[in-house]
Amino acid sequence: MSSTNVFEYQNAQLFCEGRNVDELAKKVGTPFYLYSKKSFLDKYNAIKDAFKAIDPLICYSVKTCGNINILAQLINAGAGMDVVSGGELFRALEAGADPKKIVFAGIGKTDAEIEYALEMGIGWFNIESEAEFENISRLAKERNLSVNAALRVNPDVYDSRTHEKTMTGHRGSKFGVDIERATDFFKNAGTNKHCKVNGIHFHLGSPIYTPEPYVLAIGKVMILLGKLKNLGIHIDTINIGGGYAADYTTGLAPQALDYAEAIIPLLAPFVAEGGRVIMEPGRSISASSGVLISKVLYLKEGGGKKFAVLDAGMSQLIRPALYDAFHFIWPTKVDALQVPKGLLQEMDLPGLEKYHITGPICESSDYLARDRSLPRLKPSELICIFTSGAYGMVMASQYNAVPRPPEILVDGEKAFVIRERETLHTLTELERDKRTI
Ligand code: LLP
Repeated sequence: MSSTNVFEYQNAQLFCEGRNVDELAKKVGTPFYLYSKKSFLDKYNAIKDAFKAIDPLICYSVKTCGNINILAQLINAGAGMDVVSGGELFRALEAGADPKKIVFAGIGKTDAEIEYALEMGIGWFNIESEAEFENISRLAKERNLSVNAALRVNPDVYDSRTHEKTMTGHRGSKFGVDIERATDFFKNAGTNKHCKVNGIHFHLGSPIYTPEPYVLAIGKVMILLGKLKNLGIHIDTINIGGGYAADYTTGLAPQALDYAEAIIPLLAPFVAEGGRVIMEPGRSISASSGVLISKVLYLKEGGGKKFAVLDAGMSQLIRPALYDAFHFIWPTKVDALQVPKGLLQEMDLPGLEKYHITGPICESSDYLARDRSLPRLKPSELICIFTSGAYGMVMASQYNAVPRPPEILVDGEKAFVIRERETLHTLTELERDKRTI
């Protein structure tokens, strides 16, 4: 899903909203994550507007970019939250989320996480197995509490273009309960007072590049709803998960309206009868709302290749190393003729050279791009790794004992450090006081 880009070149210098990126780098050093508040809100509102005919509860997927200052902006705009751990639940609550607008997914919820969520009064658990249902109902009963839940079904629907490491909706994946087993599940769970399973959930994988898989999966869910109705089991919530694509390459992702046009007609009758729809978009809100800014440390040649070694790599952004993911990369300041025409895999511009763009980490997989055409690079030059707002900072590690980078949020002319750069002290602080056990 795409909309106007807030990371734009003005006079051949990259800006984030009203702020010059090089000026920001002077203040915070590199590398750093840089986010646009406007972009987060624009993308959230684009989904809300596109789907308004069925008025879904949009639960932003906290796992994609979970800084509490960003969550707070989305919560103020009306978003619910999709969390997958006690930690994400804590983040959502710290940011001010209404617990009733929180869905708790994830296939391995611990007792402590379930108890925490029960006590906070969350909206729904997304249940991943019969065993998990038994556990949640037991823990709720012990506390004399009651919680709503949706059964995550595995509809055996997926997009074959989704990377194999982020596919979920196919038969044999670890997620959900095979849809054929769902009626038996409901026959057993139907009358439980403590864990009221009145919803169906699916998540088909990330990303899903066309609306068709949603259409197929909703079709299967509707057949299931019919069977359940015949058994006297009423479903009031359908959660269609996340996976809506983002523009890693300009124009590649469908718009929110494209997904909405295909999905709304299938769910409108359910909503007309009082049903509720939930969505769990993540990257379609956050990916294009953030970039990673890094610096060229060294240029070198070897084996007939040119290498640019940056001060950011797989410890800060693991997606290229883990999924061979494409992120558009370009210097933040260029000659007027080298302003990129979009986030494109190849561009016909003068004076480009091919580089392997690598990080500083001692691993051969630590590449951000291979054989990428870029303007001739110079040492100390700033480089922008675009579309890094989703699964960027949240997947960053301290590998090679590198402190994690800061996060900066721009709002018009204003910029805020919303997470400080970790320090050398951060690296060892939990190791200092040896404890006898
Ligand atoms: N709902 C559920 C149940 C999920 O598992 C996910 C993502 C989402 C929603 C949000 O999906 P999105 O709208 O962001 O595609 N680290 C990988 C992606 C892992 C996706 C995990 N689940 C990457 O960097 O591509």
